[in-house]
Amino acid sequence: MSETFQKFLTRVAEAAEQSTLVKMTLSKPAQKHDELRNVYVKPVLIKEKRLFAFTYHYERRDEVKNYDAVQMFDILEEMLPTRFLNAVLFTVSEDVTLLVSSKGKATIQTKKVQGCREQNLEHDKQKSRLVNPANPWWYQLGLTTREGKVTADMQHKFKQIYKYAEIVESLIKPMKFAGTVYIADMGAGKGYLTFALYELLTQKLSMDVDIKGVEIRPDLVLKINEIINSNHLKGLEFVESSIEAYHPEKLDVLIALHACNTATDDAIASGIRAGAELIVCAPCCHKQIRQEMECSGKVDAITRYGIFLERQAVMITDTIRALILEYFGYKTQVMEFIEMEHTPKNVLLVGRKTSKEPKKSEILQQIKELKAQYGIESHYLETVLDLKP
Ligand SMILES: C[S@@+](CC[C@H](N)C(=O)[O-])C[C@H]1O[C@@H](n2cnc3c(N)ncnc32)[C@H](O)[C@@H]1O
Repeated sequence: MSETFQKFLTRVAEAAEQSTLVKMTLSKPAQKHDELRNVYVKPVLIKEKRLFAFTYHYERRDEVKNYDAVQMFDILEEMLPTRFLNAVLFTVSEDVTLLVSSKGKATIQTKKVQGCREQNLEHDKQKSRLVNPANPWWYQLGLTTREGKVTADMQHKFKQIYKYAEIVESLIKPMKFAGTVYIADMGAGKGYLTFALYELLTQKLSMDVDIKGVEIRPDLVLKINEIINSNHLKGLEFVESSIEAYHPEKLDVLIALHACNTATDDAIASGIRAGAELIVCAPCCHKQIRQEMECSGKVDAITRYGIFLERQAVMITDTIRALILEYFGYKTQVMEFIEMEHTPKNVLLVGRKTSKEPKKSEILQQIKELKAQYGIESHYLETVLDLKP
């Protein structure tokens, strides 16, 4: 390595050590057609460790990776000047520019900074979007054009995906997970929301994850795993299984969005049994309780109207689910997922595990009264969890 490069790296090392490194850019690819256009580096504080976030700007996607100082130097040595001919180090007091001419001659220019500049160790909120449609898997999943633009007929789906990512971010961010976070997305379907979750957690929140998309349809599992493998998405995998038969050893977060009828209950039961810290589900079709209500012959002022019977069945099904979660020590919350125009199945049931002792007999009494009022023999979730109110 030439003396000039060594000098530039020494300046980087000093700035990293003295915590004066504000940012760094690598640009001007040595190979004109290199898919990697430039790299943006900034210091970040993750779990009280000073790291360097590298944002790799490819032609059609961005990728963010965090490295410690030693790894950063290995990468810089590898990339300068083989991959990039221009590098600028921005410190709190000066800008140091490394330029390599077309003939391979390297020079350094230093410019003092006017005024004061500070180091910002926050994640770059503006640049890292929750879900980036330019990532190639969105095209492969059929949501975008090859150029990364959401297609007209997928606009609604994409809004739903984005909203979902926002909600999940607000739920997961305050939680204190140590090491790899184990997640199961049960009834994952075509994987839209699973990929959004993966992207959000790995690229935006820089988390180590093990995400399993559990899906009963083998054709979907095969197709999605091909997409995962072609993009080298470490920590994401689809598993061909019914929700009932899937018993994860480790589970921190259970997601079940629009899993049909009682499949939602099987998923919740699986989350409870595995002691998941967070359970998020968007229930779908509430046939089991509706049928019980219809068969009971009990009709009140509300349920004599077909539409209201349907809505009441939805509310009773999900209220009992929420009560059962509370029984098992989860603090529950029911929230709207997205506006009705995007999906009619828009309720999100969220359970967060707490250390507070639940009032079990009170909860069981509430379930008992609700069932008696509407002539319900039993809720499927009670049966799978062997609960006897
Ligand atoms: C309506 S889709 C929802 C897909 C995805 N979660 C979403 O919200 O976009 C339901 C998916 O769950 C799968 N599914 C239904 N019952 C299941 C079960 N018992 N075990 C595993 N997968 C199931 C279906 O094959 C389907 O792909």
